Order: sequence, then structure tokens, then C-alpha cells
Amino acid sequence: MSKSAKLAVLGSINADHILNLTHFPRPGETVIGEQYNVAFGGKGANQAVAAGRAGADIAFIACLGDDAIGERIRAQLAQDRIDTASVETVSGEPTGVALIFVNGEGENSIGICAGANAALTPDCVARHQQVIADASALLMQLESPLESVLAAAKIARAHQTQVILNPAPATSLDDELLALVDIITPNETEAESLTGIAVASDDDAARAAEALHAKGIATVLITLGRRGVWLSEQGKGQRIAGFTVKAVDTIAAGDTFNGAFITARLEGKSLHDAVRFAHAAAAIAVTRPGAQPSVPWRAEIDDFLLQQG
Ligand code: RIB
Repeated sequence: MSKSAKLAVLGSINADHILNLTHFPRPGETVIGEQYNVAFGGKGANQAVAAGRAGADIAFIACLGDDAIGERIRAQLAQDRIDTASVETVSGEPTGVALIFVNGEGENSIGICAGANAALTPDCVARHQQVIADASALLMQLESPLESVLAAAKIARAHQTQVILNPAPATSLDDELLALVDIITPNETEAESLTGIAVASDDDAARAAEALHAKGIATVLITLGRRGVWLSEQGKGQRIAGFTVKAVDTIAAGDTFNGAFITARLEGKSLHDAVRFAHAAAAIAVTRPGAQPSVPWRAEIDDFLLQQG
């Protein structure tokens, strides 16, 4: 397959321990949970799975622990149509873990132990640089060491591989990294961390997008939850509404959006149509519990869009 159709995803892998409860515990409070599940997650893996199930030709650069759950995750990634040759098993380290509370409104609160994800160092990235060089697009998030994200972005730039950064979880970033990004996809909180502009309206989103364009980023997509996405290309912005569904939990909704969006772009869809495709994938994901268990396959996304007319 030609370089133009290939996707590389670099990022984290976690085992998600999910506890559903009526409300988040306050400091000092114990809340009896209603349901407990362990599911496969991690922002990098979720985005890779979303791309794989949506039909992308995808290779994943990541690190797993040398434990039983790591082996199960590797097998599942392969079933999700992902090339796992660049997923390293790190001896003596556990697979990353996320502890997730989900409240009665479907909102979540997450704490993470990086485990093997911390071994995704710049040296590790260098071992897999050919995967980035061969790809047309590189999709990353911020659950991996920042210096590794920067190293990967530099390799991508040197080989004309487009860089898509989902800057989650929220943090501030150096201009050096932002200048290497072609498409950025923050949510409102992440956009505020990057620009200092609180995003509560379309005007705010337009101003935050301008600030990110000024850092050298051509395309800015600010996800706005139920209000859709603010899409700004070279300073021209528009809001693209999402689909209304009954959400049970929003874990991995953003990850599903990112994986589906870049898959659609690599197929040649316009930015607008790729956002609509990604909205559909994310809308399906929020109707189901968990991270990767909620990520839809291509046929489901196509059916959903057909039903929307
Ligand atoms: O974006 C959702 C993901 O964040 C979860 O799967 C969890 O692992 C954390 O990384």
C-alpha cells in the first residue's frame, strides 16, 4: 500500500479499572459502587483501535508490560486490524493502569499509573522511526513522555508525514512541539491549557483557534462536547454539530473521534465530511460502556450515517 494510505499511532496502553457509582467520592468519602469492570484502554490504544475498526491501514508504536493482561491486549490489538510489530513488551514493568470512576451522569474521573508506557522513550521511538517515515500521518496524544512525542514529531516532519496531535490529558506545551503539528484536536479544557483562553462559546473557540494557528498549526479542531466541533482551517472557522444520542459513558469518545477522523482523512474525505464521520463514530461509542469495548466498527459507522440521512 502507498505511503499516502498508511497511519502510524504512537501512544499509551492501559488496563482500565472502571467503577460505576452514583456520584464521585468527595475527599474522605467512601461510595459503594454499582458495577466494576476491567476493560482495555489508554488513549493511544483507543485511538489505534478506533482507526483499525474504521478501516485504516495502521501500525501502533507503544509499550506493554510483561504481564498476562499485556499479552491479552496485544492479541486484541491484532484482532482490531492493527500492526503490533512496534508494540514493545517491557520486561519487569506492569502494563499501564487507569482507575476510572463513572458517575450517574456518565461523566468520568481518571487517575493513571504509567507502568510500561514510561518506557516509550526517544530511544524507543528511534527504534521504530521507519514506521513513522513510511506513514502518511502520525497520530499522538500526551500519555507518553513529552520528549518522545517531540522526537516522533521531528521524525515525521523530516519525512513529510502529517502530524496530528490530540493534546490529552490537558497540559501546556512548548512552541517547538506545536510548530511541528499539522492538525490539533483539543477539547475545551485542553484548548484553554494551551492558549489561556477559556472556551465557552463559538467566539472563544475562534480566538483559541487563532492562538493555535499563530503557533504554526494549519488545522485546529476544538471538540465542544454536545455542541460539536469548532473546525478552523488557516483562520476560517465553522462549528460542525454532532449527533444527539443517549450517552451511558463518555470514556474514549474523544479517542474514537480522533481515530475515526484521521481514518476518513486518509481516505480522502474533506475536513467537513471527516468530522461528520468522526462525530458518528463518537456518538456510537458514548452509547456503550468502557473504552475499547465501546469503539464501533466501520459497518456500524456507515449504517449510523445512512440512518441520519
Ligand atoms: O481517553 C480515555 C482513556 O483515558 C481511558 O481508556 C484511560 O485508559 C485513560 O487513558
